[in-house]
Amino acid sequence: RLRGFAEMAAEGPLQYVTLFTGVPVWLVTGYAEARQLLAHPDVVRSSLDGPHRDQVWDDLVNSMERHMLSANPPDHTRMRKLVSAAFTRRRIERLEPRIREIAGELLDEMAAADGPIDLVGAYSYPLPITVISELLGIPAIRRDDFRRWSSVVVNAAVHTPEEYIEAALAMVEFIREMIEDRRVAAPSDDLLSALIAARDGGDRLTTDELTSMVYLLLAAGHETTVSLISNGVHALLTHPDQLALLKAEPERLPAAVEELIRYDGPLQAAIPYVARAPIEIAGRTILPGAVIVFALVAANRDDAKFGAGGELDIRRTDNQHLGFGHGIHHCLGAPLARLEGRVALGMLFDRFPGLRLTEPDGDPRRTPGLLMNGIAELSVRL
Ligand code: HEM
Repeated sequence: RLRGFAEMAAEGPLQYVTLFTGVPVWLVTGYAEARQLLAHPDVVRSSLDGPHRDQVWDDLVNSMERHMLSANPPDHTRMRKLVSAAFTRRRIERLEPRIREIAGELLDEMAAADGPIDLVGAYSYPLPITVISELLGIPAIRRDDFRRWSSVVVNAAVHTPEEYIEAALAMVEFIREMIEDRRVAAPSDDLLSALIAARDGGDRLTTDELTSMVYLLLAAGHETTVSLISNGVHALLTHPDQLALLKAEPERLPAAVEELIRYDGPLQAAIPYVARAPIEIAGRTILPGAVIVFALVAANRDDAKFGAGGELDIRRTDNQHLGFGHGIHHCLGAPLARLEGRVALGMLFDRFPGLRLTEPDGDPRRTPGLLMNGIAELSVRL
């Protein structure tokens, strides 16, 4: 967890430790080391091809993992180019009025409630999932199903393998159906149709790449943004001076969103990478085959880079945090996440200026697992 990684950072920026599965890994908590290694050509994803448990597992890997986040160049370069062509800045900017409308409707529903409200369930969660579902063109009646499956799949560590497989198979089947429907339907303006149509010369995404990419966009497009909103609201409510500054100078909102991602970002760590050649760094040698875990939350609080890294300060300039990663896998959805963060936080505090935590001194319950850094429930009063 954040505190765990932050405490480990005191032992040095780069350590060889045993973390989760009993396999020793290189844990990177220093900002400079993380930035250098994330952009290093010999720091790569490990191959997905290998002995799997059985046919079902093989199928799941092919339908869920053949996306750009798991790929290395040249496959990564090809996929990123194809997906970027569909995921354009214009398409994102066009979404702002609709994001405002969705946020407004959720705020109206909250205003009607009596007593404390769980902000995660009422606002942080439904906002991004509605946005990404509409962007991809998922029918409203299937969104609850999708939400249930993805919460099992993304938090696999707290579910049994049987639960995981059941949810993953249902999700893959649903995504395949959506793609098939779209292939035969009249051309439409949604992102899924654009992904199906995306071409680079004669090149297109394969069916497995397309299914995996839709899964990645859906998973990445909501779990993380949920935490951007919940963690951000929690950080501001527990730092009244910063909230007051933001209210007095609302033009600071974009900088505040960056600072909130730096200070308590949605991801504890990037997906593990591996070294494919010896790498000399910080007086140590990382050997080929070694697993590298980037503790983004710790690197983002490194005093050597940010001065008082543990302090929330929305006036920071030059805030080059690693919350969206760095290097070739730098988050493709960052412009959408930033837009949703600005709309969600701005509209919430405008609408409910007296918003406060029900238990101002309590620590909110955090989501389980080592990868995500989210809040499971945040009780507030309007
Ligand atoms: C990659 C963070 C929202 C799509 C990444 C990575 C990080 C990240 C750290 C790199 C991971 C690594 O190197 O292992 C975040 C955060 C978000 C967010 C903090 C919200 C605040 C989104 C959204 C989308 C998205 C809304 C799309 C709808 C992607 C994709 C990649 C990615 C496609 C893979 C890029 C590649 O491999 O080239 N994200 N993300 N993310 N993210 Fe995000």
